[in-house]
Order: sequence, then structure tokens, then C-alpha cells
Amino acid sequence: MAKPSLVITRRIYPEAIEALSAHFDIAFENQSSDTPLTKPELIEKLAQAQYLFCTVADKVDAEVISAATQLKMIATGAVGYNNIDAAACKARGIRLSNTPDVLTETTADFAFALLMATARRVSESERYVRSGQWKGWAFDQFTGVDVHGATLGIMGMGRIGGAIAKRGAGFGMQVLYHNRGQAKQENGARLVDRETLLKSSDFVVLVVPYSPETHHFIQAKDIDLMKPTACLINIARGGVVKDEDLLAALRAGKIRAAGLDVFEGEPALLPGFLELENVVLTPHIASSSRATRGRMVSLAAENLIAHVQGLPLKTPVI
Ligand code: DGY
Repeated sequence: MAKPSLVITRRIYPEAIEALSAHFDIAFENQSSDTPLTKPELIEKLAQAQYLFCTVADKVDAEVISAATQLKMIATGAVGYNNIDAAACKARGIRLSNTPDVLTETTADFAFALLMATARRVSESERYVRSGQWKGWAFDQFTGVDVHGATLGIMGMGRIGGAIAKRGAGFGMQVLYHNRGQAKQENGARLVDRETLLKSSDFVVLVVPYSPETHHFIQAKDIDLMKPTACLINIARGGVVKDEDLLAALRAGKIRAAGLDVFEGEPALLPGFLELENVVLTPHIASSSRATRGRMVSLAAENLIAHVQGLPLKTPVI
């Protein structure tokens, strides 16, 4: 019997290709690790495909879904799936899976990497050393702010928020959180309202999923509530922060620093960010340890294989 046809939008790991090849005819596998297919390319590749393995950077909108007339299932190698029109999938009876849990701890580690880097001016001071400007030790060189004893505010207390709270407690921080959905006590963190969190925190970490409700969740009026010494960390999604407002606030010295792993319209970002020493910029790598990226790819593959075998999906969205 012919195997169902699968399109893979980005280069993935050999172990997953091997597992998938036993169940699928891999009609297309993008050999590039970082170049998404254009929309016309994606539509063309999906013309005959029944299965799709995609990533956060592929826009699978209603137009793509309606053109993919044979499609039965999409597995995204990510926990967030705002790039996929889930309602259009549901309307067509197309299943969708994501990769929760396997990236929780790695992503929480990275929130702390950004937090520490902004607090202690790691990127800025490294640029100074690399450019040969360091002439000798001095008391006032790159003085940062302390993490221990500071107040950490977590916006979004899901799995990753909980793992960040645990780390905050380990660092001797006072941990506050705000959650739009069901409120819960998490790892010693204290639930507060949104305004209190913004006003009281030395570090505000954003972990809310992106949706129409969280579009520009943080904008000028919110940044205005923050302490002038505070730092904003975005590991959620571009679009959760209105980047234009954040850039203006940083330029005006309204907050001390920002650590940004995601951007509105990424991989493009506002060029003004590049001019600021107090912003740490990374290319959407919060989940990127080799072990975790391997687990994300394997879990996506396992979901596809489960569907083809008529078994329940391991981590279904719909
Ligand atoms: C996710 O899983 O949603 C991340 O943003 C991709 O690493």
C-alpha cells in the first residue's frame, strides 16, 4: 500500500527522518535549516500532501489550508501555534499537534539567560572587550543591578512561567505573577493584578501565548507603569510587545533594559534596537538546546506517526 505523503518545511534531525520514512513518503523536505518556504511554494508543495511537519516560522493560514485539499494533519515542532489557523483546520477536520512540556525547562533557562545578561550587562561588556577597548579594571566598569533580592514579575503562569518562578525562588528573588486565565499559586509566586506586577517588578518576563487578545499586550501605557530601573524580557512572541513603543521607551530611558528573543515581523526587527547597548537581542532561540530541539522534532514526528497508525495523538491541539 502506498505510504501517505508528507511535506517537511525545514531541515530536521536524521533520527526523525528515519522514523518518519518508515511510515511516510517524504514528498518534500526543505534542506535549509532556516529559510521558510514562501506561501506560493508551501501551497505548491502541499498540493498532493496529506501530512505537514512545520515550524513556528511557517505561516499556515486559511488560504494555505484551503489550497491543501488532501491535508489530514499538521504537526508543528513548537508549543506555540499562532502561525497556524487552527479554526480553519478544525473546520476542515484537519488534526493539529504541538510540542508542549518537552521545552519547558530549557525555555525557562533561557529566560534567565536574558535576565542575567541584561542585569549584568553581559553582551555590552563583551562587545567592549572584543573591540579592544578594555584598558584595565575599575570600580565603575559595567556596574549592573543585582538579581538576588530583586522582584521578578511573570506575565503568564503556564508551564514555562512556573519553571521560571522556580528559578526565581532559587535566585532569592521575590516572585510575582499575573495570569489572565485561571489563577493558581505557583512555586511560591504571589498572584497580583497586572498593574501591580508592572509597577513592582525589577524584571518583567513575558510568557503569554500570542493571540488576538494578547496582541500588543505590552505597549507605551504599560511601560509607563514600570520602574525606570526595570527590565523587560520577551520570550513569548513578537506582537505581544508593541516593539515601536518599547524602542521609544528605551530611547527615552523610561526603563533600564530589555532582553528580546522574539520580535514583531521577525526575522526583521526595528533597526533602532541595534543601536542600543542596553538591549540583549537573540534570534528566537529560547528552546534551543540540542537535546530539547531533538525532543521537539521527535514529538512532532511521533504525533504524525500516531495519526497514520490510527492511534490518539500524543499532544493534540485539535
Ligand atoms: C515554541 O515552541 O513556540 C517556540 O517559540 C519555538 O521554539
